[in-house]
Amino acid sequence: MVSIKEIKAVDLNPQDFINQKADEISKAVGDGVAINALSGGVDSSAVTMLGHKALGRRLKTYFIDNGIMRKDEPQKIAALFKGLGVDVEIIDARDKFFKALKGITDPEEKREAVTQTFYKDVFGKLVKQSNAKYLLQGTILTDVDETVAGIKRQHNVFEQLGIDPKEAFGYKILEPLVQLRKDGVRKVAAASGLPESSFNRMPFPGPALAARVIGEVTPEKIETARSATSILEEELSSIEAFQYMAILHEDRVTGMRNGKREFGNQIEIRCWDSLDARTATPTDLPYATLRKLADRMVQEVPGVVSVTYHIATKPPSTMEVV
Ligand code: XMP
Repeated sequence: MVSIKEIKAVDLNPQDFINQKADEISKAVGDGVAINALSGGVDSSAVTMLGHKALGRRLKTYFIDNGIMRKDEPQKIAALFKGLGVDVEIIDARDKFFKALKGITDPEEKREAVTQTFYKDVFGKLVKQSNAKYLLQGTILTDVDETVAGIKRQHNVFEQLGIDPKEAFGYKILEPLVQLRKDGVRKVAAASGLPESSFNRMPFPGPALAARVIGEVTPEKIETARSATSILEEELSSIEAFQYMAILHEDRVTGMRNGKREFGNQIEIRCWDSLDARTATPTDLPYATLRKLADRMVQEVPGVVSVTYHIATKPPSTMEVV
């Protein structure tokens, strides 16, 4: 087990950290090529900026479009990085992910299907084709802690579990953020030139909208969750909350539209106040805001006839439903 020396956000000088890590990456990779996958989250965004500073065009950055991201997310993130001088190649892997998710209803199996498709089928193959000997990953200290404690198996933790990626996959992994926690990463991301929409970004789970669809994930159901999410993010953009989400339920309910019965879908809205995601309370949203959300969702998202707001705390709830 590798022991990792934590750098606390208060002790962090982000500019020194960036220079030091860029130097380390540069020395490790030499005149070779490195590869990384960008999701747009703060960790992978910060790593992309560090790798780009160290290697320039010798860092190949991919955005894997798994079909379960939010509206236009792959294009928006690639455009943002292009504006910062970083080329991002979008890989269309939507069919592969939907095929892997077909017929699966169990939450943990859904997460596993997303992880396996990402590593084995899509990104693993890209790494082999690229001949890169180094893979840059945005693993942070909390990922290592949670994985080692057996709370949540984070897909980006290998060495800490005693898996040698060189032996298992043929490449070495560099994890420049592994001494930091989220607050430290946000400081590094801000100092590396990323905009506030990146360094203060709301958390979004690895299994993406597949975590927001109860039961089997299909392209149609993802589209429903995606439309509801867009409305939610528009309406709550000025609200101070840790995280908010729109969830598509598996059960349908009777509604009526234009005088006719409509056996339709239900969307559940969750909005959380939390400091560290370990415990959370529902945000006290104004009733008028909730009503506006409901009106827009039933009008603008096809098939939705019911909208509810989740009011239980975590625990015993969790923030996501899946
Ligand atoms: P829960 O649902 O465990 O969520 O209360 C706590 C925080 O973790 C995020 N989350 C995930 N993030 N992969 C991720 O990268 C996951 O599988 C996952 N599950 C939950 C969740 O969005 C919340 O911020």
